[in-house]
Amino acid sequence: MPVILEKKYKNGCYLAVWKIAESHDELQAMLPSEILTDAELANIHHPQKQIEFFCSRLVIKHLANSLNIKYLGIKKDEFGKPYLVGCNWQMSITHTSNYVAAVMHPNEPLGMDMEKPSEKIRRISRKFLSEKEIIEANDDLEKLCIYWSAKESLYKLYGKRKVIFNKNLYIYAFQKNAKEIVGRLKINEIDENYLIFIEKIDDFILVVAGK
Ligand SMILES: CC(C)(COP(=O)(O)OP(=O)(O)OC[C@H]1O[C@@H](n2cnc3c(N)ncnc32)[C@H](O)[C@@H]1OP(=O)(O)O)[C@@H](O)C(=O)NCCC(=O)NCCS
Repeated sequence: MPVILEKKYKNGCYLAVWKIAESHDELQAMLPSEILTDAELANIHHPQKQIEFFCSRLVIKHLANSLNIKYLGIKKDEFGKPYLVGCNWQMSITHTSNYVAAVMHPNEPLGMDMEKPSEKIRRISRKFLSEKEIIEANDDLEKLCIYWSAKESLYKLYGKRKVIFNKNLYIYAFQKNAKEIVGRLKINEIDENYLIFIEKIDDFILVVAGK
């Protein structure tokens, strides 16, 4: 299993990144049937989506094993936010292209995202950035990607709908090569700052948000 990056952050969050090299059937065989149920699989029709689904469960299983946590599978709440069955550890998953990544923390909620800087992100930047952030991003594609992934991560950390990206989520100004930045989630009664860690993996930017 090609885990290409594994680390623990200063806030107690554990990360594992997996580059997918296995075939669909090899991956499926690695998941026991009590963890990957037929009902779950029946909801995912596209073979590539099934591969991503297998890998995200396997990377969480890998993290759980190395943390001595019994992995009993993942379920989702009413908003689609995943949680570990029978365990209080918090988690988040992202998959993109040939990579899958997961993070776990003993008690604080987490969110993560992995993206490649792209023109598509630039095109939609006015939808997810505030006026101040647009000025700070200075139309730099890599910075725009960090803003996008950081906000996706905060969205996943919060886990509920009705988040307005350019109003409820704010990323404090940062330097292009920063490894750690700060984001703010302000919605309803919540007004909290979160640490956001940044990794560059090949052409991709991986972002993890947590307390
Ligand atoms: C749900 C969403 C965050 C997924 O992000 P993505 O980049 O498409 O996909 P990723 O691979 O990074 O993440 C997928 C994982 O997110 C997780 N996820 C889905 N819904 C979630 C939620 N409400 N909270 C936390 N995590 C969630 C799942 O674990 C999923 O993996 P799985 O299906 O294998 O279990 C995204 O589709 C979304 O809805 N974003 C917000 C959209 C929005 O409001 N945009 C406005 C911009 S202006």
